[in-house]
Amino acid sequence: MKVTVVGAGAVGTTCADNIARKQIANEVVLLDIKEGFAEGKAMDLNQTAQIEGFDTTITGSTNDYSKTAGSAVAVITSGIPRKPGMSRSELIGINAGIVKEVASNLLKHSPDIIIVVISNPMDTMTYLALKATGLPKHRIIGMGGILDSARFRYRISEAMNCSPNDIQATVIGGHGDKTMIPLTRLATYMGQPIGDFLSEAELEEVKQKTMVGGATLTGLLGTSAWYAPGAAGGMLVEAIVRDEKRIMPCCVMLDGEYGESDICIGVPVVIGKNGLEKIVDYKLNDGEKELFKASAEAVRTMNASLTELNVL
Ligand code: 2OP
Repeated sequence: MKVTVVGAGAVGTTCADNIARKQIANEVVLLDIKEGFAEGKAMDLNQTAQIEGFDTTITGSTNDYSKTAGSAVAVITSGIPRKPGMSRSELIGINAGIVKEVASNLLKHSPDIIIVVISNPMDTMTYLALKATGLPKHRIIGMGGILDSARFRYRISEAMNCSPNDIQATVIGGHGDKTMIPLTRLATYMGQPIGDFLSEAELEEVKQKTMVGGATLTGLLGTSAWYAPGAAGGMLVEAIVRDEKRIMPCCVMLDGEYGESDICIGVPVVIGKNGLEKIVDYKLNDGEKELFKASAEAVRTMNASLTELNVL
């Protein structure tokens, strides 16, 4: 089983590292446009194999897509990251051209590939990859909701002083500071609503911290985060490769589900060997439905700039 990660920056390398350490694939191809960079990262990662106890081989490639041939899954992380004060949407002009070209190159060598999109603005890049390749919707999946939900679970566990592993919580909607929807009403601590443990003010604080999760890190680091985004990409690849049938919040094309069509946006889905296997219909209340509608409108506005930029 071969998995390709495009972009050997911090997110891509963390993702490749995660896939190797968990032995999700026999080979991970790490590809980048910068001469020798992916080869260097691959060499460094390969030299952790004995220490970490994995057998996965990491192959570096400077833009040679023939090395990716026969990949079952590819993760696209390429493009420029956010700088402090920038929104994810400001990256669209540069990243759209890159994501479109990467998706088409991947398909030339791996016609059956399932594509995971991490590049920002993630919802619009997922939509672009889907439209530009014409692939069926089960084969193009945006990762954002897994990351946002992990941050949500972390923030809840922090407020409750408990393990994030005992928290079930989901973020749906767009992967943007203003568009994501942390579903506090449906979040539980081992089956008990978190509202039984946290006050309204505490729930609101958790929600706000989750929504600006990426921006907070960008402010601290001077660039986008990578450990959680890379690990979230690895988690999604694992669910596909191991046919786990896990429910994960991911960005997928909707055809009427949640009242929306012709848009890629975060909803809970079942992930297995076919990629997206099922969209799960959460019973949202009226307030949550309103938030989802507004989130979809914002994502749709961003998608419209693909036409203005002539990439679609
Ligand atoms: C984040 O939220 C990179 O969009 C990613 O950190």
